[in-house]
Amino acid sequence: MQRIIKLRVFLKVNGWMLITALLFSGCASKQQGHQNSKEYHNGMVVSASPFASKVGLDILKKGGNAVDAAVAVQFALAVVYPNAGNIGGGGFMVYRSASGETNTLDFREKAGASASRDMYLDAAGAPIVDKSLYGQLAAGVPGSVAGMVAAHEKYGKLPWATLLEPAILLARNGFPLSAQQVGELNNLHDQLLKLNPDGTALLKDGKWATSDLLKQEELAGTLELIRDQGRAGFYEGKVADQIIQEMKRGAGILTKTDLQQYQAVWRKAITGNYKDYKVITMPPPSSGGIALIQLLRSVEAYPLKRWGFQQDSTVQLMVEAERRVYADRATHLGDPDFYKVPQAALLDEQYTKDRMSNFDWSKATPSANIKAGKINGKEHEETTHFSIVDKAGNAVSITTTLNGSYGAVVAVKGAGFLLNNEMDDFSVKPGAPNMYGLVGGEANAIAPGKRMLSSMTPTILENDGKLFMVVGTPGGSTIITSVFQTILNVIEFDQDMQQAVSAKRFHHQWLPDVIYTESGAIDAVNRAKLEAKGYIIEPRGPMGRVDAILKTKQGGYQGAADPRGDDQWLGW
Ligand code: DON
Repeated sequence: MQRIIKLRVFLKVNGWMLITALLFSGCASKQQGHQNSKEYHNGMVVSASPFASKVGLDILKKGGNAVDAAVAVQFALAVVYPNAGNIGGGGFMVYRSASGETNTLDFREKAGASASRDMYLDAAGAPIVDKSLYGQLAAGVPGSVAGMVAAHEKYGKLPWATLLEPAILLARNGFPLSAQQVGELNNLHDQLLKLNPDGTALLKDGKWATSDLLKQEELAGTLELIRDQGRAGFYEGKVADQIIQEMKRGAGILTKTDLQQYQAVWRKAITGNYKDYKVITMPPPSSGGIALIQLLRSVEAYPLKRWGFQQDSTVQLMVEAERRVYADRATHLGDPDFYKVPQAALLDEQYTKDRMSNFDWSKATPSANIKAGKINGKEHEETTHFSIVDKAGNAVSITTTLNGSYGAVVAVKGAGFLLNNEMDDFSVKPGAPNMYGLVGGEANAIAPGKRMLSSMTPTILENDGKLFMVVGTPGGSTIITSVFQTILNVIEFDQDMQQAVSAKRFHHQWLPDVIYTESGAIDAVNRAKLEAKGYIIEPRGPMGRVDAILKTKQGGYQGAADPRGDDQWLGW
């Protein structure tokens, strides 16, 4: 209520249509989502921010399709969700048209042309941790603007400028910060100041307070250039100059050529079946799609439904599958343009069955005994997710990221957007864990122009040839297991979309050899049974922010926004 009063005061001051519409249009809210499972038939948008979801819904109502709405939401999130929404980062889109055509778009960042394998190691060959995480050198060539241009050119219906306008207004007029955002920005204050000595809109003298307006004038200017000039508004001219100046300030390596040459890439979706469901998901350079299908296949033959949600056998089986799949990830997955990823072999059904054959019900398999699978046969040759469905039934699933929260924590001076720190997703040294504890080797070593391996898993499911679910999440290494659990929660444990998203999560990633759990994910009885078999269970903070849409048997769309954040679903 207090929040509504504050917003009303804000309204009085600003009289701004967007907020008015948000509060009084009768659109569904996240809270309503928890209380009922109301269905909508004309479209649905679920994102990490109520403002971005509203932008997407307005575009759908104006006659835009799911891709139009996605482009508008991506740019809006760059303004209202600066810790992960971005124009300085990258991401992946999975698309399914109403008629069942599928496609994916890779707008992942790339290493600059002068990047090198050992660039984050000291003279003794040890990783210098902060070097790939903070500052200009941590940034890959941003892909988001090229991605949005490519998506719009191929599938968009509304004019490009219409899709940029809401984000420009939000940047210029400001939007009220949520309590969660205020906490994050205040915590980051000292680091923001250190890395941005000339200031940024994200810095305030004193502390931010809930409902303070965040105005980003420089970012509004950059978005106007993108509105007027498309990709040239970002990869050339004034903004490119500003990025290069920023590189000079902080010993970054990106060049004008790196920017000019960046291209988003359309890639064939990875598909696989789980029971009666078809899973449509992201190929490399994301590890997410291959890993998700391997995980689902690994558990398919077992009676999960009978065992029940979060019961010891269910958890044990899922963890043993995760251990093996993440071991494969560490060895076999990288940018397919640079490394021959054995995709067909990894997705071979017999291969997955064989991987699970050394699994012993009586005790945990130590990760030390699990190595990546031997691939036989020849191979033919701080993140955010949003899900959108339009009136016709076209669906878009996008996960986009700066990597860590607020990326490299450097805002490009004059241009008002944050640089990513995606270089940390490379394996900076074989076996050295990245910020998510993930290890890797040759497949994901740094090379000029190469894309760093990702865990992002934007996914769409079909049932009986019809749209069934749109799903994805942020969360670094936990992305894949969060998507896996959300899907099983619906298909095996009969949860509705919101229950499946809200349910507590657990996660295993081979190394470290630990089951991480959100508080309450595994009860004391089941925990004791698992510990008796040698599993080490450690509590940790929230995992992921799944934003998903389910098409119900009645033919409507059921939205689910993750209660772990400010996320919101809006339907009409
Ligand atoms: O691409 C990846 O896998 C990571 N850069 C994702 C980072 C992420 O999810 C951070 N959000 N919590």
